[in-house]
Amino acid sequence: MKLLVTGGAGFIGSNFILYWVKNQPNDQVVNLDLLTYAGNLESLSSVKGNPNYTFVKGDICDVKLVNQVMEDIDTVVHFAAESHVDRSIMDPAPFIKTNIDGTYVLLQAALKNNVKRFHHVSTDEVFGALNLESKEKFHEKTPYDPRSPYAASKAASDHLVRAFHTTYNLPITISNCSNNFGPYQFPEKLIALAITNLIEGKKVPVYGDGLHVRDWLYVDDHCEAIDLILQKGKVGETYLCGGLTEDIPNIEVAKKIIRIMGKDESMIEFVKDRPGHDRRYAIDWGKIHRELGWTPKHDFDEALKKTIAWYKANESWWKHVKSGEYKSYYEQQYSHR
Ligand code: NAD
Ligand code: DAU
Repeated sequence: MKLLVTGGAGFIGSNFILYWVKNQPNDQVVNLDLLTYAGNLESLSSVKGNPNYTFVKGDICDVKLVNQVMEDIDTVVHFAAESHVDRSIMDPAPFIKTNIDGTYVLLQAALKNNVKRFHHVSTDEVFGALNLESKEKFHEKTPYDPRSPYAASKAASDHLVRAFHTTYNLPITISNCSNNFGPYQFPEKLIALAITNLIEGKKVPVYGDGLHVRDWLYVDDHCEAIDLILQKGKVGETYLCGGLTEDIPNIEVAKKIIRIMGKDESMIEFVKDRPGHDRRYAIDWGKIHRELGWTPKHDFDEALKKTIAWYKANESWWKHVKSGEYKSYYEQQYSHR
C-alpha cells in the first residue's frame, strides 16, 4: 500500500509515521509537510534513509504539487493543520487557509486520483464546550458548535470531507479526537509546555481558575485508533477517540506533573484566561470500542511519567524548538499576563 501522510512532521503525524513504518514495513509512506514552526524533521530522523519513506516539503494548498504527490496513492491520512487554539485567537488567517482551503485541495486531488481511502484527522473541539456540572460526553451525533477560530476551521473541514463523500462518493472516514500528549509535542500545548518549563526552572502558566477540563489521550493510542479505522472502519463514518481520564481539571494536571518532577506547587502561576475558553471536554468513545474493538491502553499517570522521561532525555529536540519563532510567540502570549 502507498500511504500519503499530510503534516507528518508535526506531533501526531510524526508519531503516526514512526508507528506505521514499524508495523507495516512493506508499505510506502509519503510525508507531505510545509515545515511550519510546528513541523520538525528531527522527530523522523530514525526513518530518514528508509527506502519506503519519502519526505516532500510543500503546502497542502498547492494544487499542482498536491496532484503530483497524490498520483498512485492508495490512502491519505490527513493531519496537516494549524493546530493551536491560542495562535488562532492571535491570527485566524493561516487556520482558514490551511485547515479549510488545504483540506479542499486535498479532497479534489483525492477524487481526481481515485484514492481508496481519505482519512481526516479532526478534533473534539468542533463540538464546543460542556458544562462542568454535567456528566454529558461528546458522541458522534453531538451537534457541531465550534467556538474558537481553530475549532471553526476544523469544523468547516469536517463538513467538506463529509460533503465529498455524500456528493461525489469519495471514500472517507473521520476521527474526532481529544487532547493528545506524548513525545514530539510542540511545547506550546499545556503538557509539553509545563514539562519543558519546569526542566528550565520556569513556572507553569495555568489559564483562569484552572478548573477547565480536557480529555487526555496518549498519542500511541490515537495512532492505533487511526490504524483500526483504516483497516476496519466503515466508509463515510465518523469515530470519536478519547482517553481514560475522567474530568481532570487543568490545575490537577499541572500538580501531577509537578509532583512527578519533584517540584513544589509554587511553580504554578495563574495567568489571564484564554478568550472563549471551552470549559469542559469529555468523550464517549463507545462507538469505536463496540464496532472496531478499540480501547485506549495507556493509564494517564503512567503515560505522563513516560512523557516526562522522554522530554528529560530529549532536551536537544525541544531546546531547538524553543528558540527563534517560539520566543516571540511566548512573549506575546504570556508576558502581559
Ligand atoms: P502540529 O501543529 O504538531 O503539526 C501540524 C503539522 O502540519 C506540522 O508539521 C506543520 O508543518 C504541518 N502543516 C501546517 N500547515 C501546513 C500546510 N499548509 N501544508 C502542509 N503541512 C502543513 O499538529 P498536531 O498536534 O500533530 O495535530 C495534527 C492533527 O490532529 C491536526 O489536524 C489537529 O487538528 C488534529 N488533532 C490534534 C489534537 C492534539 O491534541 N494535538 C487532538 C485532536 C486532533
Ligand atoms: O481537544 C483536542 C484539541 O486539543 C486539539 O484539537 C488541538 O489541536 C490541541 O491544541 C488541543 O487544544 P487545547 O486548547 O485543549 O490544548 P492546550 O494544550 O492548548 O490547552 C489545554 C488546556 O490547558 C486548555 O484548557 C487551556 C489550558 N492551558 C493551555 C496552555 C497552553 C493553560 O492553562 N495554560 C497554558 O499555558
